[in-house]
Amino acid sequence: MPLNILVGTQWGDEGKGRIVDLLSAESDYVVRYNGGDNAGHTVTVGDETFKLHLIPSGIVHKHTIGALGNGLVINPKSLLAEMEMLKEAGIDISPQRLQISYAAHLITPGHIALDRAREAARGTGQIGTTGRGIGPAYTDKASRNGLRVFDLLDEKNLAEKLKTHLDQVNHRLSSIYQTGTLDEKEIIQEFMEYARVLKPYIVDVAATLTEALSAQKMVLAEGAQGILLDIDHGSYPYVTSSNVTATGVFTGLGIGICPVERVIGATKAFQSRVGAGPFPTELEGEQANRLRGTGSNPWDEFGTTTGRPRRVGWLDGVLLRYAVRLNGLTELVLTKMDVLSGLPEIQVCTAYRAVDGKTYEIPPMGVTTLETYQPIYETLPGWQEDLMRVRRWEDLPQAAQAYIRFVEKMSGVPVCLASVGPERSQVVEVPRDA
Ligand code: IMP
Repeated sequence: MPLNILVGTQWGDEGKGRIVDLLSAESDYVVRYNGGDNAGHTVTVGDETFKLHLIPSGIVHKHTIGALGNGLVINPKSLLAEMEMLKEAGIDISPQRLQISYAAHLITPGHIALDRAREAARGTGQIGTTGRGIGPAYTDKASRNGLRVFDLLDEKNLAEKLKTHLDQVNHRLSSIYQTGTLDEKEIIQEFMEYARVLKPYIVDVAATLTEALSAQKMVLAEGAQGILLDIDHGSYPYVTSSNVTATGVFTGLGIGICPVERVIGATKAFQSRVGAGPFPTELEGEQANRLRGTGSNPWDEFGTTTGRPRRVGWLDGVLLRYAVRLNGLTELVLTKMDVLSGLPEIQVCTAYRAVDGKTYEIPPMGVTTLETYQPIYETLPGWQEDLMRVRRWEDLPQAAQAYIRFVEKMSGVPVCLASVGPERSQVVEVPRDA
């Protein structure tokens, strides 16, 4: 079956957008299966940089169809803003090119207000959510109170459901969180307009994708966030509210189990995290500033969605092995190799030491007790050369080649590509190790 899956192997922000962009060249469909506009995928094409949150990054190619599966929670306001931005850039986003599953759930201003109020109420125990209403929308879905994209098809029904939802939200905002309430009439009005514009895009994505797969069309499933933020397998409770892992593709798109050609893990050459939660290889001070950048480039380590500076650290091989196991990865794409240029030496975490002195190559209880481990590092030589102009394996400095081979050995899967800059062409194909 012509299905490929791309997931982030860390805490998100691995540079998946540009990898999707590359893989889109040979894909007919590029589809999202989880999350919402908490994601931020940056694609640079020539002089133009697109920051996408909901629409699959593959849409910037002329031949692809983008789809949003049932596993998503969709804020129609963000979706329309993104459609507008793409339209202005001359990209066709007609219903022939963009499909939205009727079974995806909607995010309303009520969910956003609750997300922010809950976070504020958590005080020092904050998760550091993106404040986009993701958790409350998935909570409503699981508790069978959600609003679905399907509801946009019937205005009367939509107005009634929204009214009930907003009554409940306002009650909670005022009685539990003691914050201001929302203007229900205004929101219902807004949603009537969203319904009008989005109607032509609403289809049975599960059915169209199943048909496309049977017709041997190439489908690329584009993961949002990173697998360490998965609701079941991530560093709970510091996670997002959806299944990020590759196995989430089947439920998040509504397709039957079928063979997958490639399960590609996008892995940043170092590690980053936004929001709270354990981070064993985290760096501080000058070393961290060096990896993070100043924020003057779109690819510096500042959140695409929130603008928050990301926490950064050395590559964590223990978590990488966990990602390989959890997703059945067939290969890795190692991103941002260029950022490591100029470092005298590079550290990589190859194992954890537990408080009782035992060492682990994969954490024994998933990533539940990450904060209790001490990383064990191996030090590798750095390289001084700028990699941004390198396009061939043989032109990479020997130390950069050795770093890639080290990651392959440590993770047990081959690296197929390494990226050396944000532009489409700034990649190096990695030959299979003999
Ligand atoms: P939420 O998904 O907004 O509820 O946020 C939950 C956690 O996931 C927070 O730590 C966020 O910073 C993190 N998060 C959510 N989406 C992304 C993403 O696309 N990249 C990186 N972190 C994310």
